[in-house]
This record gives sequence, structure tokens and C-alpha cells, in this order.
Amino acid sequence: MAAEAKKQSSYEGSEVQSFQFYLQHSGEHAAVIRFLLEYLPEKFRRIAADKSNLAVLGVGSGGGELDVQMLSLLQSICPTLSVTTDVVEGSTELVANFKALVEKTGNLEKIPFTWHVMLSEDYRKQVKNVKKYDFIHMIQMIYYVDNLTETVKFYHSCLNKNGSLMIIVEKAGDGWDLLWRTFSKELCNEGVPAYRSSSDVLASLKTLGLQYEEHSIPNIFDITECFDPNSETGQRLLGFMTATDDFAQSFTPQIRADILNLLRSKCSTEKEGKIYFNSCLSCIFVHA
Ligand SMILES: C[S@@+](CC[C@H](N)C(=O)[O-])C[C@H]1O[C@@H](n2cnc3c(N)ncnc32)[C@H](O)[C@@H]1O
Repeated sequence: MAAEAKKQSSYEGSEVQSFQFYLQHSGEHAAVIRFLLEYLPEKFRRIAADKSNLAVLGVGSGGGELDVQMLSLLQSICPTLSVTTDVVEGSTELVANFKALVEKTGNLEKIPFTWHVMLSEDYRKQVKNVKKYDFIHMIQMIYYVDNLTETVKFYHSCLNKNGSLMIIVEKAGDGWDLLWRTFSKELCNEGVPAYRSSSDVLASLKTLGLQYEEHSIPNIFDITECFDPNSETGQRLLGFMTATDDFAQSFTPQIRADILNLLRSKCSTEKEGKIYFNSCLSCIFVHA
């Protein structure tokens, strides 16, 4: 991918607003947090066994809403452990939000943060094999990296003994996957040159011969308003879901109609007059 195109993968300005709007309407963070609270305590205990320090790396952490939850959980599970955190995030705006959130979240003052405000590709080039981590997470960000297999190989090589690489990604065969694979020609752009779901991550892990376990993170959200052209909420949701600034002004009228038809007929479930988008995610723990 050209350097110019790579820059567009991290969120700034209208992309940050669109993402925040999506988070408010999708319940995605709440679904991920429910899952993490159920699965991470046991993982953290295993990763932390026999250790006095634990190094965490977040890649594509965005505004850090999920990171602060995981770090608070880690501290509560392993209160005597000293924890350090590195963050690799391409967006200056979201890193500023993340820093503000850390300030606001009272119980994180003991954790030193190292901020790498750069793309994952640049971090890979700069720090090759320098620092090791016990827990690395990449949540909803692998769509944007240059070379998935090389990226997974690199972060796996950064794991300490007993460490874990956690990748959260859209689940193969569910709503996002159907939408983006059906309309890949129309939807893929410089930021997302090729769509990826959990099946692509699993294919990379198999190529690399790495051990992993996969879990589903169920979620649905109401997209009924997407079918009302006068609804601002509906149009903004469609904007995020199709990675466009203005859905109504993008694509041909036929493609817009085909997208709406697919969303309704194949990507959603109708219940009591509402249309719910099937937005299941997959969480893959890759073992060191
Ligand atoms: C969908 S958001 C997910 C943010 C966060 N993990 C969450 O789930 O709330 C994708 C994030 O990846 C970041 N990003 C995109 N391309 C990146 C890259 N090549 N390297 C590092 N971060 C990147 C974006 O700036 C954005 O913050």
C-alpha cells in the first residue's frame, strides 16, 4: 500500500465522530466488556503466574475505553503485580482522548503508559524484537494493517513465555462479513484495501502454525432507522457501516438499494417491527 493510503487508516476528524456515534448506537463496547469480564480473569491469572511485572500492549486502541476496563480488571485480579502499558495507535485525536480517560479513571495512576502515536507498520519497523509483552490486544483494528500474516507473526514474536495475543474481529459469516464481502468492490478503499473477518485471522494463524482458541462475542443492534432516508441516525449509521462520509451521496442508486436490501434480508433479524443487525464478533486468543 502506498504511504499516502496508509495514513488514512487511522481515524481523525469526521472518522472519530462517526466511530463514536457508532459506539453509542451499537452497544459494541458493552458486548465486548461483558465478554472480557467473563474470560479475562482466568487468562490474566494464567499469564501472571510466577511473574511480578506484567507488560501490556494495546494496538489500535482508539480512545482506550476497552483498555482502561482491561487494566482495571487486571489490577483487581492481580493487585500485587506491577503493570506497564504500551499503546500503538495511529490517531493523535484518539490518543488525546485515551490520555484524558486515563486521567479521569482514578485507579490507573500506578501504571506507566508509553505512547507510540504511529501506525502499527511503523512500530514494527522501529522496535523489531526489542520489547516483549505478556498481554497484547488488537481489538477491531486488523482490517487496517498492511499484511495480516506478517503483523500477527510480529506481535506473536513480541510475547513473553505464557503470554497471550488477543485479537477481536468481526465474525466470519455474520452481518459485517456478508455486507463487506458482497460489496467489497464498492466498499473497500485506501484505508481498508481488502476486507477481513475472523476466517482471515484463522487462515493466518494456520499458515504460521500457531495455537489459538476462538470464542464468539454476540451482539445485535437496531438499524431500523437506516431504512428511513429522512432519519439522521439511520444515515449516520449507514455512513459508518459503509465507511462513507455520506451514504446517500455515495454509490449508484442501484448499489444503495442493493446494500439496503442485503442489510435487511441477510444481515439482520426482524423482531417486533424492528430490524436488528447481526453484529457478532470473534475473540481469538493466540498462545505464546
Ligand atoms: C475501529 S477502531 C477500534 C478502536 C478500539 N480498539 C475499540 O475497539 O474501541 C480502529 C482503530 O485502529 C486505529 N488504526 C487504524 N489503522 C491503524 C494502524 N495501521 N496502526 C495502528 N492503529 C491503527 C484507528 O485509528 C482506530 O483507533
